Amino acid sequence: MKRLVVVISGRGSNLDAIVSRSQSESWPAEIRLVVSNRPQAQGLEVARSHGLATHVVDHTTFADRPAFDAALCDAIEGCAPDLVVLAGFMRILSAEACRRLEGRMLNIHPSLLPSFRGMHTHRQAIEAGVRIHGCTVHAVGSELDHGAILAQAAVPVLEDDDDARLAARVLRAEHQIYPMAVASVLSGRCRLHRGRWVDHGRGSFDHAFTPWLLCAEA
Ligand code: GRF
Repeated sequence: MKRLVVVISGRGSNLDAIVSRSQSESWPAEIRLVVSNRPQAQGLEVARSHGLATHVVDHTTFADRPAFDAALCDAIEGCAPDLVVLAGFMRILSAEACRRLEGRMLNIHPSLLPSFRGMHTHRQAIEAGVRIHGCTVHAVGSELDHGAILAQAAVPVLEDDDDARLAARVLRAEHQIYPMAVASVLSGRCRLHRGRWVDHGRGSFDHAFTPWLLCAEA
């Protein structure tokens, strides 16, 4: 069984999508722990509803970022995970934390990287006037929203979109691509080699995987 740790800060809809897909595709994997930096995160309820173990590392109770990061990494490493999945985790990890978990941590960012790094990506996309927007699953490196791109999903930007409408469309794409990307790494099908993901075509278990999706849904 592969061991997975999911790290969240909020709603937990990506967590829910990953758990659901792992069940429907019978991944030989176990989500050992769901860690949140916010005690009130809705995603903790999502985790409990699936019978998953949860743990809170509340960033407000630490003197500084290195202390919080160290406690978070300790909680994660205590599970000896094969893969760490950041799913709506809203803190910036220090270079030291990234180094500790390097090569086994994924994130999903709600834009087609390298466009629109940082916050308010949907507003950035609308203001830039792009016609195509989306989301990116990438390895976590020491620089924010950088790191090797594993998978991307694209959605249209419509003329009457506001942040919320566009965010909802992108989120539906996230729920499709993130579980696929997680499975591709867990199965050993996709591996990092010299800073790039290499698709070896088959892994230790069957699952759907395509590194890109075009979601034409309006
Ligand atoms: C998603 O849009 C994700 O891309 C971003 O934060 C949001 C998390 O949503 N990093 P949820 O908590 O998975 O519902």
